[in-house]
Amino acid sequence: MLNALTAQAPDKILALMAAYREDPRDTKIDLGVGVYKDATGLTPVMRAVKSAERQLVETQDTKVYTGLAGDPAFADALSTLVLGADKPVDRLACVATPGGTGAIRQGLELVRMASPDAKLWLSMPTWPNHPAIAKYLGIMVAEYRYFDADTGGVDFDAMMDDLGRADAGDVVMLHGCCHNPTGANLTLDQWKTVADLLIVRGLIPFVDIAYQGFGDGLDADAAGMRALLAKVPEALIAASCSKNFGIYRERTGLLMAIAPSADKLKVTQGAMSTLNRLNFSFPPDHGARVVTTILTDDALRGDWAAELEDVRTGMLGLREALATALRDRVGSDRFGFLAAHRGMFSLLGATPDQVEVMRRDHGIYMVGDSRINIAGLNDQTVPLLADAIVAAGV
Ligand code: LMR
Repeated sequence: MLNALTAQAPDKILALMAAYREDPRDTKIDLGVGVYKDATGLTPVMRAVKSAERQLVETQDTKVYTGLAGDPAFADALSTLVLGADKPVDRLACVATPGGTGAIRQGLELVRMASPDAKLWLSMPTWPNHPAIAKYLGIMVAEYRYFDADTGGVDFDAMMDDLGRADAGDVVMLHGCCHNPTGANLTLDQWKTVADLLIVRGLIPFVDIAYQGFGDGLDADAAGMRALLAKVPEALIAASCSKNFGIYRERTGLLMAIAPSADKLKVTQGAMSTLNRLNFSFPPDHGARVVTTILTDDALRGDWAAELEDVRTGMLGLREALATALRDRVGSDRFGFLAAHRGMFSLLGATPDQVEVMRRDHGIYMVGDSRINIAGLNDQTVPLLADAIVAAGV
């Protein structure tokens, strides 16, 4: 049987991680995988996470299974963080999942279960695992234009044109904030306009929100998504705690579904719980319990939010510094979009050859489409990157 297996295409982000690890140069710079790093290159355990873990060690008296949907207190706390206090409780179904990827996977399985012929519309470009999972599940994928390479912003007219061709019942994947890989985001008004289009055409939004708190702040980052969700009849939302709680390896995520009516809540919740059972039974609990402990304790929550805010403003500072360093070198504001982008990522606009030159000659690792992880920089490496960008002729 196993003789029949063929080699699977490696995920380009994970392949880059491996290539970076193998590079012996001590001057190498990792701007690849989307992991936050402080100025020393460390991905720290956040203070509040440490405290919550200590508290759990002291107080947790069992590790028996949770429910199939995970701990209801986690679903309640995280869904409020993401959707806001006025979330539609009578229509909201939630299951805890192994990370944000698990939430995407379970959400797409739900799409396939409910509507096997629905197409999934993905922004062009998007996180490579979106099409990879969809195609593996046999879900048809279509692309909508999103990024304007000339301005470094969103090509909103093109996006609306393309979504205007979607068929009723199709699902539209939207990045809740901090678009991965481009760093270019919809404005609040654009989110509302997208919502109107979805309603007119009978399309269902699936929002992937993996970087809440990394852009303009916890509530600001969710504002556009919340405005959209307030308008549409039904929606799926995949949330990740990997980045904003820094608990990457704990695999902590939540799939939320807003059912079209309160009558449909029970069957929606039941389908989501069943999919958990079929794929892994009970979701991981440690990270979820840490998050719940933090979000339900005023002092821990305040400390977490303050540390997250430092992370966010640190990345904004690096964005400004890189845009300024490039302005000084090229004598124009051609790279000004770097300061306007939000989140960890920006698409530089370099060709694959230029990306390769920067890796070969300068030991700078970025994804082949020229996505950089801003958090991989520090005050010392910003000028080195700016020099390399200019030397590569970007
Ligand atoms: C990324 O885009 O780099 C992150 O979401 C990590 C991953 O799993 O790809």
